[in-house]
Amino acid sequence: MREKVIINEVGLRDGLQNQPVIVGTADKKRLFDALVAAGVRHLEPVSFVHPKAVPAMADAADLTALLPMQDRALHLTALVPNLKGYERARDTGYRTVALVLSTTDTFNQRNLNMSLEQAIASCEAILAQARKDGVQTRTYIAGSFACPYDGPTPVHVPQELTRRMIAAGSHEIAIADTIGAGNPKQMQDIMKPLLREFGSERFFVHLHDTRGMAAALAWTACDLGVRKFDASIGGLGGCPFAPGATGNVATEDIVYMLEQSGFDTGISVEGLREAVAIASAATQSPQGGRILKWMHSQELRAQAKQEPCRT
Ligand code: COA
Ligand code: ZN
Repeated sequence: MREKVIINEVGLRDGLQNQPVIVGTADKKRLFDALVAAGVRHLEPVSFVHPKAVPAMADAADLTALLPMQDRALHLTALVPNLKGYERARDTGYRTVALVLSTTDTFNQRNLNMSLEQAIASCEAILAQARKDGVQTRTYIAGSFACPYDGPTPVHVPQELTRRMIAAGSHEIAIADTIGAGNPKQMQDIMKPLLREFGSERFFVHLHDTRGMAAALAWTACDLGVRKFDASIGGLGGCPFAPGATGNVATEDIVYMLEQSGFDTGISVEGLREAVAIASAATQSPQGGRILKWMHSQELRAQAKQEPCRT
């Protein structure tokens, strides 16, 4: 039997939060449905942030009202930046939330209007409340590889923040290369001790493809034993508070890579094409991972072979 890996689709949140076009709630729902039809079972469809900070997420509650929140086969997560966001997510029906803790003062300040110490205390307060409420928690360690403002992050920083968040009760941790600046050696250096200490069940990796390294980083993490990956349909993405960050690793690319390597993602690359088409139409710009270009070129070749010779 093939080993299972979890692909957590973050396109609707991370992907759409930074587009020049604000995608409407109905289009988001169509994209959600297409992703689920392709086999995606883990999704982060919304964040409960301040609507002025991220206007694209202002419809979080409206979108959630359209989602099958009671479907136990689906694992839906909402990103929460603070306790107020947590309460909004909980009251809207989310049973899993994703917290955000960045590795530097500057990044926390720009993202959350908090210092690093304030952000740690805020996460601890959310984790304590979530434990009381029976809500599952995942904490993003944003800027684990580099901070958009302060440059490369020493490996002990994400490791120490991970330990603090696990001690405070975070069920899972997402080690995030928020601006896509990491390299495979750094992935090994960060993850090896953490996987030894806490086991692979705890960890997601969250990768952006700014410098074309996301697939290499994903494979390195997989080789080390990580079995949970964030990805974004069509490679949509970026962070409004992390200048220079481009899209996440494309869902179709990581699914292709892992399926070809013998893992079971439960997702059909062919099925994801419909979702990419919806994402492209909704954002009014062409989206799509590298594997789609190859698939398209194969189709053109097949068509050319079928056409009668005209010379
Ligand atoms: N959702 C909606 N409103 C919120 C909120 C939330 N999560 N958190 C705070 N507010 C409201 C408060 O109620 C208050 O409203 P009022 O003026 O009507 O009383 C106002 O915002 C200011 O509250 P404060 O706690 O001082 O927030 P802030 O101005 O320091 O902003 C964040 C903090 C986190 C809400 C804001 O920086 C934010 O939304 N950032 C977005 C981060 C993000 O999405 N990053 C990308 C993903 S990692
Ligand atoms: Zn991201």
